[in-house]
Amino acid sequence: MTVAVTVRAALRASTDVDVNRMGVRALPGLPRIYVSAMTHMSIAKAASLLGIGKDAIVTIPVDQLFRMDVDALARQLADDRRAGHHQICVVASAGEVNTGAIDKFDRIADVCAAAGVWLHVDGSYGALAAQSPRINGAMSALHRADSLSLDPHKWLYAPLDVGCLLIKQDAALRRAFSEGAGYIDVVTDADMSDYAYWDHSPELSRRFRALKIWLLLKIHGARAIHDAIDSNIAVARHLAETIERSDDFELLAPVPLSIVCFRYTGGDDAFNKRLMVEVQRDGDSYLSNATINGQFALRACIVNYRTTNADVEQLVHTIRATASRLRSLA
Ligand SMILES: Cc1ncc(COP(=O)(O)O)c(C=O)c1O
Repeated sequence: MTVAVTVRAALRASTDVDVNRMGVRALPGLPRIYVSAMTHMSIAKAASLLGIGKDAIVTIPVDQLFRMDVDALARQLADDRRAGHHQICVVASAGEVNTGAIDKFDRIADVCAAAGVWLHVDGSYGALAAQSPRINGAMSALHRADSLSLDPHKWLYAPLDVGCLLIKQDAALRRAFSEGAGYIDVVTDADMSDYAYWDHSPELSRRFRALKIWLLLKIHGARAIHDAIDSNIAVARHLAETIERSDDFELLAPVPLSIVCFRYTGGDDAFNKRLMVEVQRDGDSYLSNATINGQFALRACIVNYRTTNADVEQLVHTIRATASRLRSLA
């Protein structure tokens, strides 16, 4: 939902055409949204949900570290401008979903500023690690984004569901979502009515989602959260080193945050898929999957504050034991 809200706000900020009334067909050119080849599918969903259409999504290639190729982005923006396309926003990632890659925001922000295009950073998974000393300032230019999404229900360890969107242009939200109606006019000057949330988001009635975040921060404090995130990154790197030291596993991507993509070298993609399913069934550890350079990857994402080095060593042990059981059945 946060992504759809952002894209809607970016769309309103990108034009004086009243798209709320006339829809995107009234735009002067074909709409365009720029993502990297690793970007989360929620952007495509938002484009389809908002009636912009998935054809508006332009995929920019990534470099060897799975980060958006900034020169390719600049070229694409220039080409599309010449072609008269309507540019809504660029979506960069602060921890993309497959490998945790962190885009080069500073350079992307320069390109967006020169082109006059809104920069959204999808930090749903990774942005809460921005302060970690372990990432060497890789997110120090986050403040240059026009909007940033981050998910407390991921790396703030909060229960589902609480997405968060930080956005600089409140006016764009108002233009996107404000609908005059007599029964919601604010007729009191009491402080509590100053910010009418329904004028800034799709929801009218809304839950008090922020309460659990406020409580979580009050009870545990920001320091404890930072330490837990740091520890998750350290544990992920321990897993990556364990994999690199082993003969029967191969690391498929760098580990900038807490996602580790790897494969068991004693079998092909089909075997690795079976391995993942068996490990999930076993219930001891939970692995998910990704596709890295066309190869099936086992994906470990460490976002539980209780996970330790011993747990990921156990994971490696479990995968080996499962692999040998599967082979003995063949
Ligand atoms: C990078 C990234 N972006 C967006 C999302 C979507 O977030 P949500 O599941 O809160 O809608 C996710 C969730 O997996 C994600 O990892």
